[in-house]
Amino acid sequence: MTVRPILIAPDKRLKIRSNPVERVDAEIRTLLDDLLETMYRGDGLGLAAIQVGVPKRAFVVDVHAPDTPPAPLKLVNPEILWSSPERIIYEEGCLSFPEYFAEVERAAELRLRYLDEAGEAREIEAAETLAICLQHEIDHLDGKLFVDHLSLVKRGIIMRKLAKARRAQAQDS
Ligand code: NI
Repeated sequence: MTVRPILIAPDKRLKIRSNPVERVDAEIRTLLDDLLETMYRGDGLGLAAIQVGVPKRAFVVDVHAPDTPPAPLKLVNPEILWSSPERIIYEEGCLSFPEYFAEVERAAELRLRYLDEAGEAREIEAAETLAICLQHEIDHLDGKLFVDHLSLVKRGIIMRKLAKARRAQAQDS
């Protein structure tokens, strides 16, 4: 498993709509393993392929509690079958937005269909943190970022700070 560099916002590639995976093959399995390794290294709860620059509909999540063993999930071509009308608000972050957190409102529960790393069709029901995480990652596949759920003003503040940090970094190097 390899840790791959993560795209940091603002980056046009993060706005791309990712393509369905045609076949879950060795290349996709390597991608999923790398995503997991990269996510754990960054201490994240989820990571989508596009965040390492690969526009494919695949992502990983792991929302296990700190004192329990890892519980990685690898999802390919996920599809939301149902989402609850009840909503919850959760403070989200994103490995493409280091050090930024904001409250986002999403469906409290949902049911998903996806392909696992063997290419088998599966269904999963999720609530709470896992439900939030799955929706956040599916958004990535559609080029949507958690800041896109915020007001224009809040999003503007975050994006300007990130752009400024990037300019400062460019001058340093
Ligand atoms: Ni994210």
